Amino acid sequence: MNPLNQREELMRFENITKTYDMGEVKVEALKESSFDIRRGELIVILGPSGSGKSTLLNIMGGMDTPDRGQIYFEGRSLSRAGSKELTQYRRHDIGFIFQFYNLIPDLTAYENIALAAELVDNPLTIDEVLEEVGLTERRDHFPAQLSGGEQQRVAIARALVKRPRLLLCDEPTGSLDDQTGKMVLGLLSRISSKEKMTVVIVTHNTSIGQIADRILRLRSGQIIDIIVNENPLPAERIEW
Ligand SMILES: Nc1ncnc2c1ncn2[C@@H]1O[C@H](COP(=O)(O)OP(=O)(O)OP(=O)(O)O)[C@@H](O)[C@H]1O
Ligand SMILES: [Mg+2]
Repeated sequence: MNPLNQREELMRFENITKTYDMGEVKVEALKESSFDIRRGELIVILGPSGSGKSTLLNIMGGMDTPDRGQIYFEGRSLSRAGSKELTQYRRHDIGFIFQFYNLIPDLTAYENIALAAELVDNPLTIDEVLEEVGLTERRDHFPAQLSGGEQQRVAIARALVKRPRLLLCDEPTGSLDDQTGKMVLGLLSRISSKEKMTVVIVTHNTSIGQIADRILRLRSGQIIDIIVNENPLPAERIEW
């Protein structure tokens, strides 16, 4: 793998601030945050509950917008993008994985993935991504007929089929037992190296930092540390 400093920049955040105005109280979810994401790296964003992790991920994915600061994706400004442009960005450039999978319950694994494939011009084939996540034999199962780990793998396949530039994962192992969680992390880090896909994982679980190329630590809406991990561990080997 290339050393980090030789990798191209994919995304840059400059002094990003986000405040939620709740009338009486204002919540400063992100304060003057600056950092970049390099192409092909796996970043883990660590922080306690309420530290601004999901806020940051949602801004990365064009689901939320900052109040102040600049964001660049492949050199173009996202902070100045209109809602149409953000819709295109979410559709073509971003894959999203959530803690509770968010599959459509009355569609099979295959159909859930097919729906995402229809959003883009040049998707991977559904059989290909099912194979990649090891679920070829479960293609006709409905979500309720799948284990939690299998549902999360369908969600990963649904994100991958669009060939996103950036895969954003919010607590992807938060609903899984340790073994299954490690298997899902192993899959994410394999995809990151094999497909050279940029992957961002948000979690409060510090152990997960061991698989990252870089760890970004958030506390009360501020980045308190960005750590380069010289020797990322395979997910199977991390202690939980
Ligand atoms: N849409 C919103 N409206 C108002 N306040 C919000 C909104 N979203 C987040 N917040 C507040 O912003 C702060 C950061 O929230 P965020 O969801 O980013 O935290 P988090 O690090 O993801 O936490 P968790 O680990 O519990 O998911 C919290 O204090 C939260 O209450
Ligand atoms: Mg969150």
